This record gives sequence, C-alpha cells and structure tokens, in this order.
Amino acid sequence: KEMDIGVAGLGVMGRNLALNIADKGFSLAVYNRHPDPVKEFAAAAGDKPVAACKTVEEFTRALKRPRRILMLVKAGVGVENTIAALKPHLEKGDILVDAGNEHFSVTERRERELSEAGIRYFGMGVSGGESGARHGPSMMPGGERAAYEELAPILTKIAAQHPDGPCVAYMGPGGAGHYVKMIHNGIEYGDMQLIAEAYDVLKNIGGLSNEELAETFSTWNQGELESYLVQITAHIFTVKDPEGQGQLLDAILDASSMKGTGTWTVQDAATLTAAIPTVASAVDARVLSSDKQGRVRISKVLPGPDPAKAAAVAQARGIDRKALVAAVRDALYASKLCSYAQGMNLLRLASIERKWDLDLPEIARIWQDGCIIRARLLSRIKAAFASDPQLPNLLLDPSLVEDLRGRQEGWRKVVSLAAEAGLPTLATSASLSYYDTIRRERLPANLIQAQRDFFGAHTYKRLDRDGDLHTEWSAGS
Ligand code: 6PG
Repeated sequence: KEMDIGVAGLGVMGRNLALNIADKGFSLAVYNRHPDPVKEFAAAAGDKPVAACKTVEEFTRALKRPRRILMLVKAGVGVENTIAALKPHLEKGDILVDAGNEHFSVTERRERELSEAGIRYFGMGVSGGESGARHGPSMMPGGERAAYEELAPILTKIAAQHPDGPCVAYMGPGGAGHYVKMIHNGIEYGDMQLIAEAYDVLKNIGGLSNEELAETFSTWNQGELESYLVQITAHIFTVKDPEGQGQLLDAILDASSMKGTGTWTVQDAATLTAAIPTVASAVDARVLSSDKQGRVRISKVLPGPDPAKAAAVAQARGIDRKALVAAVRDALYASKLCSYAQGMNLLRLASIERKWDLDLPEIARIWQDGCIIRARLLSRIKAAFASDPQLPNLLLDPSLVEDLRGRQEGWRKVVSLAAEAGLPTLATSASLSYYDTIRRERLPANLIQAQRDFFGAHTYKRLDRDGDLHTEWSAGS
C-alpha cells in the first residue's frame, strides 16, 4: 500500500504531528536520520497504517505519487541536509513541505532552486508546541496554491478545530506561510514580555504572592485577557520546586533565551520601515536579561530607586492592591492591543511589498486556536478587519476605540508607578508611547527636521505651504 503522506524528522514536533496524522485516519511513512526514533514511533503507532522507514529510499518509495512530505527538522542546516538526502529520490510534482521555523527568504530561495527539478517546495508555519502538534496545531502554509489544495484534505483534519473552522488556511505564495508564522512569533514575544512586566509590577509593587498571582491570572483568563499564555502563566505560579521549598518559578534563572524568530520580525520591520516598538522591546528585554552577571555587577553601581522598596510607591499614592490589580489588567490589555496593531500592520505592509495578498481576517481566524498566541481577543481582531478591510490601524476599530478609552487611567498609572519604583516596563511603556505617538496631532519631529537641515542640508517642509526648503541656520557653525 502506498502511504498518503510522509513525515521526515521525528523530534518532538515531528513525532506528535505524525501521531496526529495517524489518528485522523491517514496512512503515513516516517523517516528520521537516526533510526531510534523511527523504531519508537512504530511502537507508539500500534496497528495504525505506518511505514517506519530506515532509509530515504524506503521512505520515498513508500509514498503515493505525487508525494506529500512534511519535514520537521531543525531550521537551517537540518533542513538543508534533509533536502539534500531526499532530493535524488523525488520526482516532478512532489510536494516537499518545511514545517519548521525557517526564515521566509530562505524558503523562497529553496522554492526557486527546487522548482528547477519540478519539486514543489512549500513553507508552512506550525504553532502550538508539542501538545498543539499532537492534538491540533494552527498552521500557516504558503507556496503554490495548487500544492496547498493537495495538502488541504490532511491539514484541515489535523488542525485545531475552532467553531469558525479548522485553524489552517492558504496564506499566499512563496514564503508567505513562514512569514506569517514569524509575525506570530513576534507577537508571541510581545505577549510574553507584557505578561512578565505585569507579573513584576504585581509582585514587587503590589506584593502579591505566587498563590495570589495564580489567582489573579486565573481570574483574568475568564475575561477579555483569556488566552493560552495567560492560562499557562496562572498555572506556572502554582508549580512547586521539585528540588526545594516554594515555587519552581522563583528558582529559575532570570535570563531569557531565544531562537531568533523575534529578531527576524524586528529586522524585517526595519527593512519595511514599519514601527513595531512593543515587539522590538520584547526582543531587547530578552537580550538585556541574558547578561545576568553584568546586571548583578551594574546593580551595585548605577543609582535609582531600589526595586526591593517598590511596594512603598503604591502605598505613598494610596493605591490599594485591588486597584493595582485592576490597573495592571487594563495596562496589559491595552498594551496587548497595541502590539497586535503593530503586528497586523507589519503583515499588511509586507503583503503589499511582496504581493502576497495576505488575508488579515483569515490570519486572525486561524490564530484563534491551536497556536501559542490563541486568545479571545483574536475574534475581535478578525471582526475588525472583516468589517473594514481598509482599516488603517487595528486600534481604529470603533469597538476597540471604546476599549482603549476605558483603559487609559490604569495603563498610565502602571507605567508611571513602575518608573517611580525603578521597575523596567520596556514593552508596556513602548505600547503606551506607540499609542500616544500615533494619536498625537503634533509631534516634536519638527525639531528633528530642523536639526537634519542644520547639519546636513537635508531640507524640511513647512506647515503653511508646499516645497522642500533649506535654511542657512547659522553662519559659520
Ligand atoms: C509556536 C512557538 C514555537 C517555539 C518558538 C519559541 O508557535 O509553537 O512559537 O515555534 O516555541 O521557537 O521561540 P524562542 O525560542 O525564540 O522563544
């Protein structure tokens, strides 16, 4: 019997996605460079129709033509090696999908290279981690549309199933799928950093214990902030340290790492001159946190309020715990809205620049379940772009304008309290400054233009008439 689909790479994601595929009734061939995971998979799959292949020859022979192959291997060299191993055994019309976190431009290069042999190379973002892969991820496929149509019967079955439909849709040609996944991850970085800052303020200004933090986040997860990341955060506060007293969270080194998708998002935003200050701050926050030794040293040198005395700041202003929790909730929600506005705007600009014709409501729809950023808010975002496809900024959706109106006081209070207490809020303040920048009729950019014209004769425009003007600002300096 020839198998419906092949999975190459049986790491955590590959194994779980393959089990998901087998569960949905598709026959499948699996291959892994090292043979042990293949054997383990065959055992785990039981009597499901699985061809456990030890060689690429066996693997490619086992598949129905044109072949459909999902690669779940490490981005970069891993994908390069897998392509090299498979290519001699593939034929014209075969579909080879990279389901990892690859840079969209690399995917486009490979698509071009493999098209010479008639191989349909395809880039697909898969989100949801281990459990998403096993029980239903959100998937962002991009490449040739006809190839998508051939993959769709399987993808729509294995995707997370939301009342609005399966969490998968054709994103666009070329690297569009991997691009949308990259933006998903940028937004993920933003969400995580905003949550971390909320935690910091609640813990250090509000004095909330882990137990109280767990309760607070659980309560938030019942309302407008409902999301996977808020839900897992609530849970994290409850997990005991297996090696000591108290909660595990307090024993974890405060230096965050990353694999690069957030940085790519910031790089591409810079290329497209799109402002994404919240996501950029989240990347910066990870970078700054990673030098723990440096921070310990500097903490003894640079002056400023002592974060250990942060609680006094709220007391001095007469802000009780309940009011602080409400303010932090509002700050988190409003900041999150700004972050999504930036991410969606970047998608829009990239789509225009690269002629991808990205469908923003559809992207918001497939992010509603299965992926890491799944959240109640996404249905609002979907509705906002569906009701006005020309919406110049997400925040201008009339119902979101109302949401932002109600969150002003708390949002500003949190940023100012944190500044007073010496607690950094890179992402929360970036969101607030983004908000205040885009809603400001007159910015101090007039001074920037004057300075540019002063030292470089870069010219400026006037408010009251047209034309590019230059002034001799100062004779002799
Ligand atoms: C997902 C995640 C997933 C992975 C990221 C984390 O959507 O399932 O985004 O792709 O967890 O690689 O990225 P960092 O290691 O850069 O935090």
